[in-house]
Amino acid sequence: MTKIVHLTGRTTSLVIKTAQMPEIIHWGRKLSSITEDLISATQRPVSQARLDTDIPLTLCPESGRGLFSAPGIEGHRQGKHWAPVFILSEESVTPHTVSFSAVDSIAQLRLDMELAIEAESDILQSRMTITNTGDSDYILNKLANTLPLPTYATELMHFYGSWIREFHTERKDLIHGSFIQENRRGRTSHENFPGAMVGSKGFSEQSGDVWGFHLGWSGNHQLRVDAKSDGRRFIQAGELLLPGEIILEPGASYTTPWLYGTYSSEGLNGISSRFHQYVRSHIISFPGAKPRPVHLNTWEGIYFDHNPAYIMKMAEGAAKIGVERFIVDDGWFIGRNHERAALGDWYLDEVKYPDGLEPVIARVNELGMEFGLWVEPEMINEDSILYQQHPDWLLKLDGYEQPSGRWQYVLDLQNRNCFNYLYERLDGLLSRYNISYLKWDMNRELVQPGHQGRPAVHGQTQAFYRLIDSLRAQHPMVEIESCSSGGGRIDYEVLRRTHRFWASDCNDALERQTIQRGMGYFFPPEVMGAHIGPEESHSTKRRHHINMRGLTALFGHMGVELDPVRESKEQMQGMADYIALHKRFRHLIHSGTGFRLDCTDTNRHVYGVAGDNEQLLAICQLAMGSHTLPEPVRFTGLEPCRKYRINAVDVANGSFQLMKQKPGWIDSGLVLSGEELMHIGLSMPLLDPESMMLVHLESC
Ligand code: GLA
Repeated sequence: MTKIVHLTGRTTSLVIKTAQMPEIIHWGRKLSSITEDLISATQRPVSQARLDTDIPLTLCPESGRGLFSAPGIEGHRQGKHWAPVFILSEESVTPHTVSFSAVDSIAQLRLDMELAIEAESDILQSRMTITNTGDSDYILNKLANTLPLPTYATELMHFYGSWIREFHTERKDLIHGSFIQENRRGRTSHENFPGAMVGSKGFSEQSGDVWGFHLGWSGNHQLRVDAKSDGRRFIQAGELLLPGEIILEPGASYTTPWLYGTYSSEGLNGISSRFHQYVRSHIISFPGAKPRPVHLNTWEGIYFDHNPAYIMKMAEGAAKIGVERFIVDDGWFIGRNHERAALGDWYLDEVKYPDGLEPVIARVNELGMEFGLWVEPEMINEDSILYQQHPDWLLKLDGYEQPSGRWQYVLDLQNRNCFNYLYERLDGLLSRYNISYLKWDMNRELVQPGHQGRPAVHGQTQAFYRLIDSLRAQHPMVEIESCSSGGGRIDYEVLRRTHRFWASDCNDALERQTIQRGMGYFFPPEVMGAHIGPEESHSTKRRHHINMRGLTALFGHMGVELDPVRESKEQMQGMADYIALHKRFRHLIHSGTGFRLDCTDTNRHVYGVAGDNEQLLAICQLAMGSHTLPEPVRFTGLEPCRKYRINAVDVANGSFQLMKQKPGWIDSGLVLSGEELMHIGLSMPLLDPESMMLVHLESC
């Protein structure tokens, strides 16, 4: 018998029709109640010249049922049982969750489907589990989560990128056909972030119906958005399995990663605020309630050139400008003088550090800062003691040569002895030294990822999770950053066990504007490592004034990435000022609701964060404005009748090339009502290209 299930969040409803298999008939605006008549209201006509019955687009589209779209499941048993058709056998419903079980007694498979809407943030979670109930092995090629989209969701925004250029977005109209994104790099990747937005034509930051998605997984994935020839559309996401990667023995199961989704009727701002709320309340587990400390990371300051006396001088400089945590990056371990050697040998280099690491840590602590250390546990260089002893610990396919990446190879974490060695080394470091933070790097992709000859991206990814989990269980107060040549491993599943991401190896503030905006759709600012680099960017050679560098890094987890010993007095003062500014607004940036404003001028980014009684807004002129006058800023999210005191906090550091007279309020501040600010707006100064300003609003 067909039934209806209705789950609700704060603003969202999910309505599922259950017949032979569950089919979502509505996922969008909240409905106060539903009626059984929806069953016939959503009954589709059957066209001439097609199958004689209507075929539902269920939570797991089945080719055996007659659905010609990408199936939710693919697999076989020695070439048989390759087109399963499931029949619903059980369901269990609460106001916010539902789980279904279905069986195919011929193929001898059981499918469990779980859906939940988190009540506060409106995040929908979906995952599937397949169990082999037969008495021979079942080879699983694919199991993916499928969620339908309404017919008017015709525009797709997807993410692409590369090293030092993460989280770029591209829009596509999707009226007919498919968009397919496949990640085969063995880590979340810079190129294929597992997320997408789909919405009504022309959806923007502030308007339109949008559905946002993210697959929480750090290995390979496939994500697709399909517009079927009959007009129905859906998104599908799951792990991309290599041939023979998952072979289910009798009784064994495979569970997909979680697919997270959310709906907003207020454009992308509604999507990001829901994702942020969910990440804050359900993904991040932060040790203690202290503010996130400002970092200095040594990488771009000294690279491999480690000298403890000099590093202590760097620490002194860092402390002077307000840094609160000092991180010694790559180059500290035995024989690590360049990138071609030593990965795997996680022992202190006593040639560089004859008195040990303790004096450096003691000095850092004495200066009032915490100490952090860089590691890259999953990797090995051929030129290392570990490789000489255990060449067989590589993740590889015997008999083939695989290309190295950054002169390194990947260790097989499913090899028990290798896993235990890495655990012992990391635990040893954390137990011996007063380390409060690990920068956990992962700098190459997986090629020929074989464990005992079988494909092993799935197993490697899970073993990586287990390694971090075991360390965290032993050292719960140590924070971990997920870094992978910058932003190559950024996703919710890794964030469950870490605390921060290194968003990009690019510290060029102009490039960072785009990277941070893209990442900010899914992740709140406090997990986005954002550092002030030197005046001339190491990755692009572009030069930026401290205003652009300081304000760009302000809206993240702030840090500094340079050598303070070699910086001029003016630069040091500039950094000290922006670090102080970050500390002044850190409570708001790291807990408020982030948003972006739509701009007619596409060379301008306007974004901010709102708390209960205040807002902080950044205006960044990326290039020359599209008109001779800048458009007024029309604020959002204010109480219409409340009064707000407005102050310009930092205006291009007082340097203007294009403007001879500023709007009067810049120097004096002013008070306006919420409705004046939202509907008339505030005139802005003419900013030079690649400069920024900050406006603070406080209700009074
Ligand atoms: C990667 C990281 C950098 C730095 C280097 C060290 O590229 O992204 O931040 O840690 O490794 O080798």
